[in-house]
Amino acid sequence: MTLIERSFRERIVAVGVTMPPQHVEQTEAHLDELALLVDTAGADVVARVLQRRDAPDPATFIGKGKAEELRDTSLAFDADTVVFDDELSPAQSRNLEKLLGRTAIDRTAVILDIFAQNARTAEGRAQVELAQLRYRLPRLRGKGMALSQQAGGIGTRGPGETKLEVDRRRLLRRITVLEAELAALARTRRTQRKARQRGRNRTVSIVGYTNAGKSTLLNRLTDAGVLVEDRLFATLDPRARRLQLPGGEAVVVSDTVGFVRKLPHQLVEAFRSTLEVVSESDLLIHVVDAAGADPEEQMQAVRTVLDDIGAGEVPELVVFNKLDEAGDDAKRLTGEHAGSVAISALSGEGIDALLATVSDRLRALEVVVELVVPYDRGDVVAALHREGEVLVEAHEDGATRVRARLDDAGAARFREFVVAP
Ligand code: GTP
Repeated sequence: MTLIERSFRERIVAVGVTMPPQHVEQTEAHLDELALLVDTAGADVVARVLQRRDAPDPATFIGKGKAEELRDTSLAFDADTVVFDDELSPAQSRNLEKLLGRTAIDRTAVILDIFAQNARTAEGRAQVELAQLRYRLPRLRGKGMALSQQAGGIGTRGPGETKLEVDRRRLLRRITVLEAELAALARTRRTQRKARQRGRNRTVSIVGYTNAGKSTLLNRLTDAGVLVEDRLFATLDPRARRLQLPGGEAVVVSDTVGFVRKLPHQLVEAFRSTLEVVSESDLLIHVVDAAGADPEEQMQAVRTVLDDIGAGEVPELVVFNKLDEAGDDAKRLTGEHAGSVAISALSGEGIDALLATVSDRLRALEVVVELVVPYDRGDVVAALHREGEVLVEAHEDGATRVRARLDDAGAARFREFVVAP
């Protein structure tokens, strides 16, 4: 199910509206990004139309005169489709299509399209399909009388029911099926994750704006052989890899889907179970493209999504990437963001320092406690060895005295044996 035709490269007119407090330069930058998104989806932006407005027009988003100009531009450039950088309401895209005589879609539709092309696992595909259906549902419209009078098969249409209602019902049924499938998959995933947590590996998730270099970094870190492409959203399904830190401790590192400004709400919703791995991580490595157009804005967009998926409180290590390209800019950004580091995932520069920092940050999350465990609780001593780092172990009357490094959850679990923090 795609909105952008792929048997040939569609010609697209991109439309951007500058609304206060935005500046026209920002709109231009957003349209650059939209052009990249359109390219990734397999089409070409052939022209741009910009407008400055205080608020969107309820009927056509841009003003009436501008919509007419857009129609002329589309004709002049022989464009197939018009793409708005902002989300259009179902009514707005309907009105625009009538006026323009061609498809009018928004950034959300383009992003959904790209995700649909890139989903690889069964779960990823189900999530994207669900997001697309939720996007399409309010936008369904009858295709005119001819279609609505076509006879449906037995059971597909009740008396007086229109084609539109049949389509609606079919979509809703499919949505229910997908939701049930995804809920079952999420349960399996949760069980697997619990098993992994019992193994007491710390988990670190790599997050960041699309194209920031997350897959390249994961490759560099683990030789994971994850696909790296200079296209947006090459990565859709999280992959987890085990990694040995310089201190010797093992962590599980996973690469997550790339975030982008105005990530469609339907997608965040559909990917929630995949993104759970992020909210349950011990640490986030937030990769920022220091050579990008507006690193600060991209960081902000990523944080908005993190808040959305309940990961706003997870400790974050900001990593400015593409040091080889950004040079001084990367150094300046590191200076402005306390605790951040600069690397080049491509050349490997700064990777050792990054690993040491990850190790330190994880260690800082742990506490050293002293415990006294009666001899008949050998299971507890064994659990301490498994789940924490035992620093000292001494035997005294009928008990073992242990000094161990534990995370907060571990310290709470063994509370009854703790004698000194
Ligand atoms: P999504 O899958 O879209 O979320 O992208 P990603 O964040 O996983 O980015 P990816 O690792 O695919 O890298 C995107 C592009 O940036 C690729 O062309 C990489 O070669 C390039 N890149 C990554 N790291 C560096 C770096 O340190 N320096 C330079 N110059 N390019 C880099």
